[in-house]
Amino acid sequence: MPRLPDPATLRELKAAVGKESWLESAQAVAPFVSDFRRLYHGATPLVLLPRDVDEVARILSICNREEIGVVPHGGNTSYCGAATPDEAGGQIVLSMRRLNRVRRIDAADYSMVVEAGCTLAETQAAAREADRLFPLSLGSEGTAQIGGNLSTNAGGTAVLRYGMMRDLVLGLEVVLADGRVLKGLKSLRKDNTGYDVKSLFVGAEGTLGVITAACLKLFPQPADTATALVGIDLPQHALDLLARLRTAAGDQVTSFELMPQLAVELTVKHIPGVADPLYQGTPWYLLIELSSPNPQQNLLTLLTGTLEAAAAAGTIRDAMLASSIGQAQAMWKLRESVPEAQRRHGASLKHDVSVPVSAIPRLIEAGSALVHRLAPEGDVVSYGHAGDGNLHFNVSQKPDTDIKSFIARGPVLELAMFDLVESLGGSISAEHGIGRLKAAEFARRADPVELAVMHELKRALDPKGIMNPGKVLCAR
Ligand code: MLT
Ligand code: ZN
Repeated sequence: MPRLPDPATLRELKAAVGKESWLESAQAVAPFVSDFRRLYHGATPLVLLPRDVDEVARILSICNREEIGVVPHGGNTSYCGAATPDEAGGQIVLSMRRLNRVRRIDAADYSMVVEAGCTLAETQAAAREADRLFPLSLGSEGTAQIGGNLSTNAGGTAVLRYGMMRDLVLGLEVVLADGRVLKGLKSLRKDNTGYDVKSLFVGAEGTLGVITAACLKLFPQPADTATALVGIDLPQHALDLLARLRTAAGDQVTSFELMPQLAVELTVKHIPGVADPLYQGTPWYLLIELSSPNPQQNLLTLLTGTLEAAAAAGTIRDAMLASSIGQAQAMWKLRESVPEAQRRHGASLKHDVSVPVSAIPRLIEAGSALVHRLAPEGDVVSYGHAGDGNLHFNVSQKPDTDIKSFIARGPVLELAMFDLVESLGGSISAEHGIGRLKAAEFARRADPVELAVMHELKRALDPKGIMNPGKVLCAR
């Protein structure tokens, strides 16, 4: 069980990073002790801002010796409280933001090495400068950092084509709990030498060690892109259209995002400059993107033809194809602003869940029935990455309802929603992780053998339990 640090240890930790690389006043540490959703308000005696891997190693070896909890902190965009220290006030926060160098880009190898504190947007931009694509793409990319993206195995809007963060990593540099450095920044596509150790740290949310740098996969830049916003009547029509698109365009189908009409209405209402480009409102909207590195692909013609055939078959009701980059960007702004519009609209209950793609219509139907029965003060706003089987099955507080009674519905609704997701063969956390928010439910629902293996790994790599205590795994 981690302990509270004494003054001598705090002095030693400050000395490990040197002048102006630590914060301790209440005002200075405030941004590091509350999570993005303001669900948790913790405390810390010290925020450390190391500049390199050696400093991180020194910090962890001190904390391990003294049994002090360490909370790695990236862009603080976690929805699950994964980067927030607890309320007891003894955990040190390790901010990664100064480890933000792009160490290497190798265009011929289609790989790059970046440090954990680079934001996702900086990483994408560095790849673009070398005429390469780093394809992870998500709404918070200007703030979220690569270390956090790796630690939560982030997903986003291009998973259909490129996979999640785990699929995009070739090698990692990790500082283990005892301060040893695992130097695994290989750029190999093939490497069958024993266990895939790096994979353990992806999705571990900083509970096994601190990722300090990563070798990432790059791809050719798209040279042809076609984007459309499509109106449909039923979620089943989304699946029919996805199948049609995949037959026509294979893995050029890059994004396939579903939004209910209410999500579009809230976004148009709350986000300046956002408009609904369809002539008639439909119950559901799809944002579709095809992309290819081949400029001769003529994807706009391909997409137009596929949508026309779908319209003739009665699968879609309306569609707008982007005829300029500006129009495509406006469609993406509509989709990416949904969470912010929901936030401005009022309180919300969030469920980041996944099911097999074919079960999406059943999830929507049965999940909506649960919301009507168990949270009648809320409206269903279930949107997200339909092509991946991942919906953010969110519920927005109805106007003029009491916020307290709405929020009080959360726990019962969540249990019922998770039961439903499990009955459909799905996951209670698709892309946002477990953090502190879902640790208890995860412990209750996980396969016992798998959970035991996770605890055994935790004990092997972090026997004193100093790494991000209370996240992912509940203490046993
Ligand atoms: C999204 O897909 O927009 C996010 O993962 C979910 C959110 O921010 O609520
Ligand atoms: Zn998402």
